[in-house]
Amino acid sequence: MSSSLATVAYIAATILFILSLGGLSNPETARRGNLYGIIGMTIAVLATVFGPRVTPAGYGWIIGAMAVGGTVGLIAAKKVQMTQMPELVALMHSLVGLAACLVGFASYVDTSIVLTGAEKSIHELEIYIGILIGAITFSGSIIAFGKLSGRIGGKPMLLPARHWINLTGLLAVIWFGHVFLNADSLQGGMTPLIVMTVIALLFGIHMVMAIGGADMPVVVSMLNSYSGWAAAATGFMLSNDLLIVVGALVGSSGAILSYIMCRAMNRNFISVIAGGFGTGGGTAAVKKDGEPQGEVTPISAAETAELLKDARNVIIVPGYGMAVAQAQHAVYEITQLLRGKGINVRFGIHPVAGRMPGHMNVLLAEAKVPYDIVMEMDEINEDFPDTDVSIVIGANDIVNPAAQEDPASPIAGMPVLEVWKAKTSIMMKRSMASGYAGIDNPLFYKDNNRMLFGDAKKMLDEVLAALK
Ligand code: TAP
Repeated sequence: MSSSLATVAYIAATILFILSLGGLSNPETARRGNLYGIIGMTIAVLATVFGPRVTPAGYGWIIGAMAVGGTVGLIAAKKVQMTQMPELVALMHSLVGLAACLVGFASYVDTSIVLTGAEKSIHELEIYIGILIGAITFSGSIIAFGKLSGRIGGKPMLLPARHWINLTGLLAVIWFGHVFLNADSLQGGMTPLIVMTVIALLFGIHMVMAIGGADMPVVVSMLNSYSGWAAAATGFMLSNDLLIVVGALVGSSGAILSYIMCRAMNRNFISVIAGGFGTGGGTAAVKKDGEPQGEVTPISAAETAELLKDARNVIIVPGYGMAVAQAQHAVYEITQLLRGKGINVRFGIHPVAGRMPGHMNVLLAEAKVPYDIVMEMDEINEDFPDTDVSIVIGANDIVNPAAQEDPASPIAGMPVLEVWKAKTSIMMKRSMASGYAGIDNPLFYKDNNRMLFGDAKKMLDEVLAALK
């Protein structure tokens, strides 16, 4: 393939990726967005493999690598449970970081690249920055994977003088960058490069370990952004324009998502990086002896059905537990049945409900819940006082009134769905356990709240049977 044809193919792929991102911004067009992405990626891979920079001698390697990578990806995608999706995404981000590191070292030792003067310095700077971002992304994403899968506890690890440790690391990275750029031999440059890589790996671990449970959504989207910048850095090292553009698209959309997440949690970016939010370390709403702080009123599935039948306005708030129980189809059936009786049923979606951005929207879309009754938090929060029944399905942190009522709470100031303002709120979960942030929820004990204990799918099936 000639280089001009490859360029045209790259431009086409870029346009398809932009259309793909546009499509993914709305559930109704997400399928089409995915399709654009698939076509764009196919064109990009073909144009690269058959492009001017790959000789036929390399085909064997490329096909072998694609077969291995494709098989692993296919098996992972088929086997992974919906609830493990966030961990899988974190793991994939780590691979982008690892790739950037490997490409960086490979470009540095590649003797076929002979550059001098400013060109040499720019290339080495690309390598240094590429490996830096790649190493932070790699180790940070591995820790995020550990935290999301529960292998590492949600509690933040707050080292004494941690800000000073980070600052020293940053200064060391700058200093070794200076040494690297001024090294006059390959061996001379390798030592500072390796030292910087180790510092960057440690920084990635430290950064994510210091993050409290409630801040994980911001970290997931931040690492998403980093993986984009790591890909862009790889693009610079390989002089591949498409990779630069795609990396920048992922990097900037991840940055926008991080901003949205920060706003959703009422946090600023710097304090997220500084860590420690949602630790359970503040005065959580639990008595010191660990005893719960009041009486709860249980309710049965049949009583829940009665309340629903008599309601005019119902708001459903789904959370992580709906994903665990795979209860979205039962939710859909109840919704249809109630709407058939003329009851106004809507959904309230918190931006950080579940374990990944858009988690609830994906599940509800899968169950074919109409998009026009799925509202964002800001759109629906004022309507709770006019609501007869609010049903919380496997959600906890996102409906925790302590965020508003208890200034000492670790999640104080985080916007939440005000389900307790409805005439009756019903909380569906299996036990009195806390949510991801690990703090007690005063909603359990409110006079107008009822607890429907049990697996969400099982309970909803019972409610459905009683409604019928
Ligand atoms: P959580 O606060 O984690 O609460 C989920 C609740 O679901 C749990 O308290 C659990 O109680 C219940 N549950 C679990 N399995 C269940 C089942 N089979 N049936 C019924 N209930 C079940 O979830 P949330 O309210 O969606 O809030 C999300 C939390 O995750 C926030 O703290 C957020 O910061 C964090 N987070 C979010 C993201 C993103 S991007 N969305 C990423 C990482 C972390 P029982 O054990 O008693 O059943």
